[in-house]
Amino acid sequence: MKAAVMRRNNAPLEIEEVTIDSPGPGEVLVRTAASGICHSELHVIEGGLPMPPPCILGHEPAGVVEEVGEGVTDFAPGDHVIGCISAFCGKCELCLKGKPHLCAGGETLQRPPEAGFRLSAADGSPILQFANLSSFAEKMLSHERALVKIRDDMPLDRAALIGCGVTTGLGAALNTARVEPGSTCVVIGCGGVGLSALQGCRIAGASRIIAVDTQPWKLELAQKLGASDVVDGSEGDPTLKVHELTGGGADYAFECIGLPVTVQQTVGMVKRGGAAVLVGVVPLGKMVELHIAEITLQEKRVLGSMMGSNRFRIDMPRYVDFYLDGRLKLDEMISARIGLADVNDALDKLRAGEAARQVIVFDA
Ligand SMILES: NC(=O)c1ccc[n+]([C@@H]2O[C@H](COP(=O)([O-])OP(=O)(O)OC[C@H]3O[C@@H](n4cnc5c(N)ncnc54)[C@H](O)[C@@H]3O)[C@@H](O)[C@H]2O)c1
Ligand SMILES: [Zn+2]
Ligand SMILES: [Zn+2]
Repeated sequence: MKAAVMRRNNAPLEIEEVTIDSPGPGEVLVRTAASGICHSELHVIEGGLPMPPPCILGHEPAGVVEEVGEGVTDFAPGDHVIGCISAFCGKCELCLKGKPHLCAGGETLQRPPEAGFRLSAADGSPILQFANLSSFAEKMLSHERALVKIRDDMPLDRAALIGCGVTTGLGAALNTARVEPGSTCVVIGCGGVGLSALQGCRIAGASRIIAVDTQPWKLELAQKLGASDVVDGSEGDPTLKVHELTGGGADYAFECIGLPVTVQQTVGMVKRGGAAVLVGVVPLGKMVELHIAEITLQEKRVLGSMMGSNRFRIDMPRYVDFYLDGRLKLDEMISARIGLADVNDALDKLRAGEAARQVIVFDA
């Protein structure tokens, strides 16, 4: 099969012929129909999220099951599925506490060494798989607990978005923050993740949603998706403007970029007792200075949000229903549908902030 392989950091991905194994016990072979391109791919390419090459990126997929391995009972050939990096072991303390998105038992979902590699290059050398998925490829060989079955009437190119960005953003609002109806919310960064957080706030019944971005066209898109106010972050520190608009700060502010300066702004934008929700990934090892007295004395809460605190087997089919009943808007979020061969161009566009979500669509 064809796949885009990261052979080195900070270099274009290489389109190669790659071998994918047959499903072993607990594994499912999926024909990738579509894969969204998330900013986290760039973090891996640029080294901010360490993952040794050679590896195949891509973690926002939807597809169709081709074959299932021994013992797989939840899936059958022909099933439509979404893949998620939050594969859960079902047995560790965090899974049993109802936080499977923080599962610590990931190694039990990997193959035993004697089973051989899931992915290998033409010369037989192993290629690392990204979080059980690696969807910049025509097929995926995943552990069954990285997949969820969805309705057949959901278009797969839009279903793909739910695999990461939508679940991350919607979940940040609905699961991590648990935004109450009537709340005031701010979303800083209106890419695929931020536009989804914004929609999560809208679905939760927020009274006011302020979108912040540095690109005017993203702010226009944010208004189409439910922002009541917009602030251009390139016109100086947006914190003051948010305080003006909200009369003293928001109940919730969502950082959806991953920059130290916008993390500081996010904490500054919430009012007494409010919550700053950190969704963007600040590259590993980078420190951020915060006014701690403000957090202590004003009881501000700073919440990390990993993959929208999901229980994806429950959340994703619900988000599919939200799309099909018109509450979740996905068509507007897709800037371009491309072929695998154009992945490097798409990554450049993402780096330059020129895209909301771009989706690789594979031939049927
Ligand atoms: N926590 C998680 O589980 C999780 C999951 C997925 C993605 N992420 C992270 O979320 C972040 C966003 O991902 P994405 O795919 O939406 O990225 P993106 O590149 O599509 O969006 C980022 C947006 O931020 C805007 N921006 C950049 N600098 C800004 C500034 N100074 N002020 C205001 N806006 C600014 C850009 O114009 C762009 O619209 C990334 O860091 C990604 O790694 C986290
Ligand atoms: Zn992602
Ligand atoms: Zn677990």
